[in-house]
Amino acid sequence: MEAVDNIETQLLTVNDVELAGTLLRVGDLVAIPTETVYGLGANGLAADAMDRIYEAKGRPSDNPLILHVCDQSMVHRLVQHITPLEQRLMDTFWPGPLTITFEKSALVPERATGGLSRVALRCPNHDVCREMIRIAGVPIAAPSANRSGRPSPTTAEAVLHDMKGRIHAIVDAGPCEIGVESTVVQVEDHTVIILRPGGVTKEMLEMVADHVIYDTALHDPTEAPKAPGMKYRHYAPDMPVQVLVGQSLTVAEYMKDIIDTIVQQEPMLQEDCKGKPRIGLLLSEETLENLNAVLPNFTLSVDIIVYGEQAEPISLANRLYDSLLQFNDVGVDTLIVEGCTPVGLGVAVMNRLEKASGGHVTLL
Ligand code: TXA
Ligand code: MG
Repeated sequence: MEAVDNIETQLLTVNDVELAGTLLRVGDLVAIPTETVYGLGANGLAADAMDRIYEAKGRPSDNPLILHVCDQSMVHRLVQHITPLEQRLMDTFWPGPLTITFEKSALVPERATGGLSRVALRCPNHDVCREMIRIAGVPIAAPSANRSGRPSPTTAEAVLHDMKGRIHAIVDAGPCEIGVESTVVQVEDHTVIILRPGGVTKEMLEMVADHVIYDTALHDPTEAPKAPGMKYRHYAPDMPVQVLVGQSLTVAEYMKDIIDTIVQQEPMLQEDCKGKPRIGLLLSEETLENLNAVLPNFTLSVDIIVYGEQAEPISLANRLYDSLLQFNDVGVDTLIVEGCTPVGLGVAVMNRLEKASGGHVTLL
């Protein structure tokens, strides 16, 4: 096996699906586009190929992988049985950002499931991705294509940053449409349990299931989550993150107070913006307007990214990871992020921000 940091990483385009599918089939690591985030793909029936995923990501070995299928016909040989509710979920939300866990068949290597008896399956809503899986002829194991713990990549450039030299190829299909990962669910009797909030919201699931609940471990740190990945710190940029949630004006005033406090501690910031620390603000359009009103003479030591509209969590989801990565590039020392109301896709956004900040969330 080649050393994991010494591989020549080929940059492929959407015209290279044939090659990408073939590389995947023979056991290479290929970063693949999906509608949620870029995945780090490998043959999901080959334990040694999946070993390389763990090595390239530096991923804890007990954290299972999602197997991606090109259609429902691929599912049957991977699972023991499909209940009517699971069938309805597939019919309604596939292809799309919903991952469903099933009791696995003997064909699925333990390496895919981290030793669990269940396997997570998803059919991505991305034509290029499904075509590559079809050409590979096997399910494709694919975690997000970031180094473990870092924000997930929503562009090929972000994948390259984390994975250059560690994987065989990247298929660049432009920015991902949704920007946060799939929702992971498990069906128990007639209840859908959300193990990880994501692109398919609770409200959407309630259209096909009478009972939809969140895994209680999502809100209780003393419980072991059913999705092992949820117990790790995740999605974190390089600097400490503080998240503020509240009415836009209140958030703006709180941000102003934090900036004032930091600037007072470091008087040199007022004249010399090269002084440390640099503050990053990630906020909504509404809050930028309010902040401009309360803090007209912005100190230049503040780096601002507007990541969407507070009233439209989908716009926040879309630019969240890319914005966090941009703050890494700029090199801010502390990052203050405006969160959102946890409804609809806002649940997934807040889940990621809680993880990125290590639970440093202030409700205003
Ligand atoms: O949108 C997505 O889901 C992306 C794209 C690439 O498809 N993939 C992704 O994979 O986010 P990853 O590995 O970063 O996250 C998978 C999550 C983890 O929290 C993992 O613990 C959970 O799914 N998971 C995987 N298999 C599971 C299983 N058998 N039972 C419970 N949770 C499982
Ligand atoms: Mg991930």
